[in-house]
Parts: sequence; C-alpha cells; structure tokens
Amino acid sequence: MRVLVTGSAGSIGTTVTAGLQEAGHDVRGFDLLAHDDSSCSLGVLVGDCTDPDVVARAVDGTDAVVHLAGRPNEGPLAEELTSHVLTTATLLDAMVAAGVGRFVYASSNHAVGMTERADLLRTDVCGRPDTFYGVAKVAAEGLLSLYADRHPITAVSMRIGSFLDRPTSRRNLATWLSPGDCVRMVEAATGSKTVTGHTVVYGISANTGAWWDLEPGRAIGYHPVDDAAAYADEISAGPDDEAEAARVGGPLAGPAFTRPSR
Ligand SMILES: NC(=O)c1ccc[n+]([C@@H]2O[C@H](COP(=O)([O-])OP(=O)(O)OC[C@H]3O[C@@H](n4cnc5c(N)ncnc54)[C@H](O)[C@@H]3O)[C@@H](O)[C@H]2O)c1
Repeated sequence: MRVLVTGSAGSIGTTVTAGLQEAGHDVRGFDLLAHDDSSCSLGVLVGDCTDPDVVARAVDGTDAVVHLAGRPNEGPLAEELTSHVLTTATLLDAMVAAGVGRFVYASSNHAVGMTERADLLRTDVCGRPDTFYGVAKVAAEGLLSLYADRHPITAVSMRIGSFLDRPTSRRNLATWLSPGDCVRMVEAATGSKTVTGHTVVYGISANTGAWWDLEPGRAIGYHPVDDAAAYADEISAGPDDEAEAARVGGPLAGPAFTRPSR
C-alpha cells in the first residue's frame, strides 16, 4: 500500500514509518518538523496538517492515511481542537476529494479517561474525557464517524494506552503498547478488509494485566504479542498506584491533575 503517515518525525511516527516499510509498504512522511527525507520511500513533506493546500499534496496518490500528528498532551482548549479536530477534518476533506478510502487515527485512552475501572472496558462506552486533550480526541472520533457515514471512507480509531519502549509504572502493566505491537496494530488497521464504517480499538499490547477489550482489535487482524508482565519485576510500587488504577485515564483522571485554564 501507499500510506501517508502524518507526525512522521514523532516518537510513534518514527516507529510506524520504519515498521510499515519493513512490512513492504511505501510511506510518505508529513510533519511540521523537517526530518530525513530518505526515511520514507515516498519522501517527506514539511507542513501543517491544518493547511488544505499542502494536505491535498500529501494525500494525493495514497491508499490510506495514518494520522499521528498532534500534541500528545494537555493544553489550552483551542490548541487541542486545532491540533486534533481541525487537522483530522482537513485530512478527511482532502481524502474525499482524492478518493482515498482508509483513515487510521491515533486516538487516546483519554477520550474515555474518566471511565471507572471495570472487569472489561468495551469500545462502545460513551466518550468520557478527562482533559481538553481527551475532549479533542472524542471530537476527532466523532468526525471519523461522520465521514464514514457520509463518504466512502472507513476509519479506525486506535485508543492508544502508553506507547513506550518498556513499561515503567504499575499502570503501564495494563496500558503498555510496545513499539512492535504498535506497528502490528497500524498495519492491521491500514490494510484490514473487515473494517466497516468507523471502528474503535484499544491500542495496548497483550498485557496480562490489561482490562481494556482487545477483541475489536483482533477482529480487524491486530494480534499483539508483547506482554508488560515480562517487566513486572523491574517496576516498583508507587504512591499513586491505587488512584491511577481507578479510572482509564490514570494520572490525568485523578484529583491531583490540574487542567490549564481554557
Ligand atoms: N505516545 C503515547 O503514548 C500516545 C498515547 C495516546 C495517543 N497518542 C497520540 O499519538 C499521536 C502521536 O503521539 P507521539 O507520542 O508520537 O507524539 P510526538 O509529539 O512525539 O509526535 C507528534 C508529531 O506530530 C507533529 N505535529 C504536531 N502537530 C502537527 C501539525 N499540525 N501538522 C503536522 N505535524 C504536526 C510534531 O511535529 C511531532 O513530530 C498523537 O496524536 C497523540 O495524541 C500518543
């Protein structure tokens, strides 16, 4: 496939562009930051995902868009909406115009971050954000639902847990997404023939301590292989473990987290 990866200079983007190409796909990178043009077989475009002109060029001739560009943490509401909602809308409009049919989105567990711990967190729970960041992820998922209902686009929202080389906290024993599994998930979401409409999956590894439903991911061909439990002996208990385990969003959903002013 020919895949546009936005946010290709970022931590997930660097891993995903390399992994997709190792799996035989062609990748065009796209980021605000200039980075090595030779890292992507279809080259790298430098620009802003809110700019319709450069986005039209970026999307042209691709089979799928993997949207990873965006600030990965909490900020003022207007910045969050621009970073996640406006970028997504701009890419979707360009896809409609160019006839590109698959959108893969780096959503976040913070879209449902205030949801209390359950035996199994399903993907059909209502949006329950813990931050402005989470609000923007809910809204971006809403856009994907809208465009999948109104246009010949299928979309996968990956509610990513904690993308890290290795788990570093007790919470990560449930939420860890390894680099290898991240690539496996993006590849499945990009090429799966079983995706219909807008599909939500949880972006975590096959963690023994997980309580987020992995079945919707498996249904589109995402079969994680790593398990944070392999690192459990290296992780010491922290003072906030209990509070972090109480809700999906962990520290961002806890009382100690202070939001920036709007
Ligand atoms: N890292 C995680 O554990 C995690 C968890 C959940 C969701 N996510 C989501 O995954 C995505 C990638 O996260 P990351 O950790 O790789 O972040 P990152 O900050 O390392 O990378 C993001 C990249 O996007 C680029 N970018 C930002 N805004 C842009 C724009 N308007 N146009 C073009 N490029 C832009 C940045 O320059 C950067 O290179 C984000 O949407 C984030 O919310 C990450």
